[in-house]
Amino acid sequence: MYNLSILAIETSCDETAAAVIEGDPRIKSNIIASQAKLHARYGGVVPEVAARSHITAIIPTIDLALKKAKTKLSDIDYIAVTQGPGLMTSLMVGIDTAKALGAALNIPVIPINHLEAHIYANFVEQNIKFPAVILIVSGGHTLLVEVKGHGKYRILGETVDDAAGEAFDKTAKMLGLGYPGGPMISKLAKNGNPAAFDFPRPMINSSNFNFSFSGLKTAVLYKVQQLKSLNLILKSNLAASVQQAIVDVLISKTEKAVKQYKPKTIMLGGGVAANSLLRQRFSLLAKSYKLNAIIPKLEYCTDNAAMIGLAAYYRLKTKKAIRQLADKNFGVEPNLKIK
Ligand code: KG4
Ligand code: ZN
Repeated sequence: MYNLSILAIETSCDETAAAVIEGDPRIKSNIIASQAKLHARYGGVVPEVAARSHITAIIPTIDLALKKAKTKLSDIDYIAVTQGPGLMTSLMVGIDTAKALGAALNIPVIPINHLEAHIYANFVEQNIKFPAVILIVSGGHTLLVEVKGHGKYRILGETVDDAAGEAFDKTAKMLGLGYPGGPMISKLAKNGNPAAFDFPRPMINSSNFNFSFSGLKTAVLYKVQQLKSLNLILKSNLAASVQQAIVDVLISKTEKAVKQYKPKTIMLGGGVAANSLLRQRFSLLAKSYKLNAIIPKLEYCTDNAAMIGLAAYYRLKTKKAIRQLADKNFGVEPNLKIK
């Protein structure tokens, strides 16, 4: 069990990724072939373009992951692959490749939930004290989850409309900054005044742990229309003010969960966890409640295959894995939820 070797594959959206995890667990390689430039001219991910690009990139990406890990296919014990949530045709490329390799090598293929994997990006650090609360913020999802132990989750709240990453991406589009928007907004915000525009913080005072970002998006749209022409100072102020509003809501809801569920650890996951303001405020929150804060390195925040391999590694230690391994006929689940 401890010397096992896992080849992990992730193709849920626009990154073709492969990684090798070995016992302990150790990340031996983590290769990401990004399609971001390919989609930038469309202002968002185009599913057909993504799937076609996965098809050409998947084998070279796996080859590179094996080479970097100084291992070969015949030494792999398990294959882990993202089952969902994500784009149907993108997921299919990963699953078909994983199944073909699994059949050829006669080794098991473990289907992994992409959101659960964002949780496991935190498990590069191994001393995690449960219970933990994790804020998962990505392009498609925003949720607060209580993690009671490995594979034991309770969803505390989620977005009722747009995800936090979508709010970043759509604001970037309105400001003519291109795709993906989060990193652009974050860069521009560094020279902006976060108090320049008083944008709404939707649901910040609601009694539950749910989020909403579509009202904020509309408020930004009206402001952009009202301002008519945007110079760099205005764009920077808009970026800083929107980022401040999004981060205020995310931190406030996490704090509420900390007060109610009294976790020992708080963790971050998903692409938006790469945001430097969110990372700073998250650390401060943990400090003020004397909690352990785990914030993954940038390469483990955005989509990657190491997190898929880590989720599989910990799953292999539970009964859940044995049940799942028995299901050789698993298929694509574009709307898979965390249970
Ligand atoms: O987890 P991820 O790589 O893919 C999904 O599963 O959706 O997340 C992508 C999202 C995009 O919305 C992107 O704009 C956002 O993460 N993002 C950021 C930053 N880097 C990536 N948002 C804010 N600040 C960043 N630095
Ligand atoms: Zn993701």
